[in-house]
Amino acid sequence: MMIIIYKSNTGYTEQYAKLLSEQLGLPCYKLGRVPDCHKGRDAIFMGWLFAGSIVGYKAAAKKYRLRCVCGVGMGPPTEELAPGMREKMGIPPMVPVFYLQGGFDINKLKGPMKLIMKVKCKEIAARLNVRAELSEAEQATLRMTQSGASCVCRENLAEVVAWYK
Ligand SMILES: Cc1cc2nc3c(=O)[nH]c(=O)nc-3n(C[C@H](O)[C@H](O)[C@H](O)COP(=O)(O)O)c2cc1C
Repeated sequence: MMIIIYKSNTGYTEQYAKLLSEQLGLPCYKLGRVPDCHKGRDAIFMGWLFAGSIVGYKAAAKKYRLRCVCGVGMGPPTEELAPGMREKMGIPPMVPVFYLQGGFDINKLKGPMKLIMKVKCKEIAARLNVRAELSEAEQATLRMTQSGASCVCRENLAEVVAWYK
């Protein structure tokens, strides 16, 4: 049986992992808390995005046979994201890669990450605010930078669920 393994910093990836676990009827574990009996097992990996990298992917790929990888970020989904993550992380061609729009709230961060993201959020908001029209996903990103927001929902997992079935 397949398992779901995730790495989350502020909880949004964890929410996706739990939703996917419910929808597919598969157990899910935090990376680092997977029972030893699952070593080498087939797994779906979900990790949060840090500067375009999927956090935890390399460590998970060493210990498990990853069959599917999901990167969770704050940006709107675009066509280039999945191939970009594949290339950056060196994910093999036969392993499907999905991008999921997660959530962001600056108040959930501390220390240097909070400082970095304060600046990043200003840049992102400035870029989106000059646009005449924003897609729903872009509006969500803008809200994330301004007051915190989440896009985590079952519907966003539809492609992953379809791949599994
Ligand atoms: C330091 C830092 C870097 C980030 N880099 C990216 C990024 O490159 N692309 C992106 O879409 N989101 C980026 N994000 C946003 C997070 O990936 C997003 O909020 C995600 O939903 C967090 O998931 P988590 O709650 O499981 O940690 C970054 C967040 C932080 C704190």
